[in-house]
Amino acid sequence: MRRRFEPAGALRGRVAPPPDKSISHRAALLGAMCDEPVTVENYLYAEDTLSTLDALRSLGAALEPEEDGGLLVRGVGLRTAAPTTGGLLNVRNSGTLLRMLPGWLAGQPGGSWTLDGDESIRRRPVDRVVEPLRGMGARLEAREDRFPPLTVYGAELTAIDYELPVASAQVKSCVLVAALLAEGETSVTEPIPSRDHTERMLRRARVPVTREGRVVRVSPVDEIELERIVVPGDPSSAAFFAAAACLVAGSRIVIEGTALNWTRTGFFRIAARMGAVVVGELEDEPKPEADEEPVGELDVTQAPLEATAVEPDEVPPAIDELPLVALLGCFAEGQTVVRGAGELRVKETDRIAGVVEGLGGLGADIEAIEDGFVVTGGGGLRGGVLDARGDHRMAMLGAVAGLASREGVEVEGIEAAAISYPGFEDQVRALTDA
Ligand code: S3P
Repeated sequence: MRRRFEPAGALRGRVAPPPDKSISHRAALLGAMCDEPVTVENYLYAEDTLSTLDALRSLGAALEPEEDGGLLVRGVGLRTAAPTTGGLLNVRNSGTLLRMLPGWLAGQPGGSWTLDGDESIRRRPVDRVVEPLRGMGARLEAREDRFPPLTVYGAELTAIDYELPVASAQVKSCVLVAALLAEGETSVTEPIPSRDHTERMLRRARVPVTREGRVVRVSPVDEIELERIVVPGDPSSAAFFAAAACLVAGSRIVIEGTALNWTRTGFFRIAARMGAVVVGELEDEPKPEADEEPVGELDVTQAPLEATAVEPDEVPPAIDELPLVALLGCFAEGQTVVRGAGELRVKETDRIAGVVEGLGGLGADIEAIEDGFVVTGGGGLRGGVLDARGDHRMAMLGAVAGLASREGVEVEGIEAAAISYPGFEDQVRALTDA
């Protein structure tokens, strides 16, 4: 489906972003591992997180949507995931489900399951979870030992000391979940800290999780207990409107109820460094022992932007928002460089190629490097057509580019936005008609 986004006048008003996708996946998954029912308030009902509900139902859990946007999870307990008929679990487009769920399944001796999904998921590497889970004693098979379909044969697991080759919260979470079922203490060492929602939620479930520097440690437990989880607004979804407010002259918006966890708010720090006015109670440093998710408002006002260099250690807390850094770069004086972001090549699409070709086609002066991109800014964007390539974040990037462009942008494949942000277009309209 094609949709046109015209150059906008000043954006004004308040935005409540949709519930956080990462925290919703974790709430459903960890909730399904509990013996007692768990209430999740403000669950994200979007394509990706609906895939998680379907997969967990196949494993025997009951997940009941509630009228107020909540979700009641009646889990099966940590050790009793039921093999499905044929054992096929369809993760559709969800990379988080594809990487996290095998951690639980690997620790169910006697069970076997095959995870598969759409055309995009079949290009996403799973060797990154196969390797540590094999190291813990499970048997796994993948196409070319690297891609879905991925078959997991559950086993009695033993602990591992695992050094992640790339910063990935999905892989870290997979190993931490498997560690709940493994004999001994497991440690995961990250090259750069990635989002820590799993650690926070496990602590809330009374699992002893400790962190020293880059090392997270977890010991096995008999059961987990969660009761109630409130999902905050998604900072990655909020970032699209924050970027629009940074770019369109005269804009000022307030984003309500957003997760302000340091491991997720790198984009806002980068935008502020480029000159945008971003006011809010962002965590000012990582909080390695936290169990709650900090939530608050962000007030974003447009201002002239200057180019910046995003270094590799800033990449994980801004990973899904780096396409927006490229967009800001088009309007900033000087050369904006993002390095150390090779992981973008294995997201829903190759987001380095997508961003460079997509924004390049709208008139940007942008070049790909192997692990990032270089944007020479100041000229803004002319406009044109951007192909989302089935990637939700590319679709929303195209829409925001249209609002800030001189001639408007037609986004080919706007429906992909519903993977993480149903109602995205209505929200664009509400802010631009205000
Ligand atoms: C996610 C982690 C990140 C991110 C993805 C969601 C998560 O992926 O890009 O959108 O919920 O853990 P990686 O773990 O592959 O970096």
